[in-house]
Amino acid sequence: MLDQASQLIAGQARQKGPAITARGLGKRFGDRVAFSDVSFEIGYGEVFGFLGPNGAGKTTTVRTLGTLLAPTSGSATVAGFPLAPENAVEIRRRIAIMPEAPGLYLKLTVVENLECFADLYEISEAHDRVAAALQAVNLGNRGRDTCGTLSKGLRQRVALARALLSDPEILFLDEPTAGLDPVAAREAHELIDGLRKRGVTIFLTTHRLEEAERLCDRVAILNTTLRTIGRPDELRDQLFARTITVRTLRPLADPGKVFGGLEAVDGWRADGAAGSYVLAVSDASIAAPGATRALVAAGADVLSIAESHHSLEDVYLELIAEDPEASRRTA
Ligand SMILES: Nc1ncnc2c1ncn2[C@@H]1O[C@H](COP(=O)(O)OP(=O)(O)OP(=O)(O)O)[C@@H](O)[C@H]1O
Ligand SMILES: [Mg+2]
Repeated sequence: MLDQASQLIAGQARQKGPAITARGLGKRFGDRVAFSDVSFEIGYGEVFGFLGPNGAGKTTTVRTLGTLLAPTSGSATVAGFPLAPENAVEIRRRIAIMPEAPGLYLKLTVVENLECFADLYEISEAHDRVAAALQAVNLGNRGRDTCGTLSKGLRQRVALARALLSDPEILFLDEPTAGLDPVAAREAHELIDGLRKRGVTIFLTTHRLEEAERLCDRVAILNTTLRTIGRPDELRDQLFARTITVRTLRPLADPGKVFGGLEAVDGWRADGAAGSYVLAVSDASIAAPGATRALVAAGADVLSIAESHHSLEDVYLELIAEDPEASRRTA
């Protein structure tokens, strides 16, 4: 699957400068603000995750950057072109969008669908590209099936194949793994990874936070306005203090004596369960060995010493769960 994907996009040369920039970009529908004041820059070859709750404006951002909707404020460049009606054709030549809903002709076969879109996109050597796109998404043997008879996940894959037809520099994937089983989702991840290795810029909206954490170089969290942007590990560090958790078989007689004054340990507290302690640390690689030596010296029976791990999901929930805008929208 990866080799096929690599072949499929081998024709596009990488460009200089940012792949996408947005400056104070916004879109409103009448009184409803879909998203506003969104600014970011995405480099060529980057996998950029775009996260946020339902109604946050992710799809509208994708449709705006993809020239399907005109912004109502701000500016953007896509594939080096200012986002403006006169550049829409040039931009569309360089991008592809896999939309939330596959939007296939259900009465046509898989191959007929792809040939139809290849025709629409004026793709040369359409037959070969359709075959390569089908191979890339592991649908080589389903080409003659009518799309209406395919399962949801298989239709998603046809939609992904369609997005690959035009050999895009920039690929917008709007929830590409929604509704896929774990194996199919993993296959989609491998495909995305393969595309990234070939330098395709990927703008990925998803509700699967572990997917974003695994695939994305950087993520942005949108909730009408941008809440944060950065590498997943940077966001974790910004939001959460570094800690290590120590568990001993029996409670320590004098934990203050054991943990007090250790290098790189800023403080400690007992953590609910007897024999469990959380240490606030500035550098776990110094604090953990030091704590281990102190525990052994104190005769403690150590069960575990572990660096606390905060996932991207923790970051997301911290930023979004208490967000009044999100609760207002779903009220
Ligand atoms: N064509 C439209 N006309 C009016 N309002 C719209 C239109 N398209 C989107 N909206 C509104 O804009 C807001 C953002 O919608 P959008 O589809 O971008 O959210 P999203 O982040 O993609 O959500 P989800 O995670 O559910 O896909 C929502 O309040 C939505 O109802
Ligand atoms: Mg959406």
